Amino acid sequence: MSVKVSGLTKIYGEQKAVNDVSFEAQKGQVLGFLGPNGAGKTTTMKILTCFIPQTEGEALVCGFDTRTHSIEVRNQIGYLPEHNPLYKDMYVKEYLNFVAGMHKVPNKSQRIADMIEMTGLGREEKKQIGALSKGYRQRVGLAQAMLHDPEVLILDEPTSGLDPNQLVDIRALIKKIGEEKTVIFSTHIMQEVQAICDRVLIINQGQLVADDPIERLQTRISGNVLVTVEFLEKVKETTLNKIGGIKELQQISERKWTISSKKDIRAEIFRFAVDQNLTLLEMHKEAFSVEDIFQELTKG
Ligand SMILES: Nc1ncnc2c1ncn2[C@@H]1O[C@H](COP(=O)(O)OP(=O)(O)O)[C@@H](O)[C@H]1O
Ligand SMILES: [Mg+2]
Repeated sequence: MSVKVSGLTKIYGEQKAVNDVSFEAQKGQVLGFLGPNGAGKTTTMKILTCFIPQTEGEALVCGFDTRTHSIEVRNQIGYLPEHNPLYKDMYVKEYLNFVAGMHKVPNKSQRIADMIEMTGLGREEKKQIGALSKGYRQRVGLAQAMLHDPEVLILDEPTSGLDPNQLVDIRALIKKIGEEKTVIFSTHIMQEVQAICDRVLIINQGQLVADDPIERLQTRISGNVLVTVEFLEKVKETTLNKIGGIKELQQISERKWTISSKKDIRAEIFRFAVDQNLTLLEMHKEAFSVEDIFQELTKG
């Protein structure tokens, strides 16, 4: 297990910013850390990267305890902090050279060239960081985080403030990195989680409210499958009830209904339409969006 967190708690004064959080992450997984502002995402990441100590609980990175093996943990972790702090008056290559030196990276110039290639920085590699667009600064931040070839990457809102094109590029890059490493990245954007994560942790007011593969989250908030059907003809409730397995019927119009059932009964609905000589114009299964799930889990 590359990251193992158990009972992690951080108290600032009177506030429990992180409250008894436990989770695990493994290689080849992109873990989305989703939560509204102030949920405790950054605090958890700062503890994992040894920037601040926890109040209680344990965080292990590649088996090393953040409290007792800070150097080893930092060797295994690449960190892109929130707001990506960079030295704006340094040149891209100069900066990467400086970071590689701190990590005592072997074959420095080759490794830097590889990271520039991987993050698509080639065109801008001779520029001063202050002259780069936000998307390219994020790429410098990612290159910096990966230089020492860490097992675990912790990326704190790596896509915030990017334009739509930059977003697509950076998301694709994170997904690619996730194939070989353990990536934990935070976001408050739900579509992002859908786009790149294998698993999602939802945190709200310091507490984990979900830890699931995305597909499983969808059935978690409602045990039911909703299917919307539209017929050419008017259909009465009593007629529809001939379909086996219906839990609830909701009328949308004379010809349109939403059928709720324990399992997917689209095949039964199709058979029913044929038997009753009804013309099925439309039938689709409603998917819950990550937005719905998020609101459901973090309300109140
Ligand atoms: N150094 C600090 N001192 C006091 N409170 C803090 C400090 N850092 C964060 N907090 C509080 O802890 C909570 C969680 O913050 P944070 O981890 O930054 O959330 P997120 O990254 O999910 O937006 C917030 O209410 C924030 O105000
Ligand atoms: Mg944050």
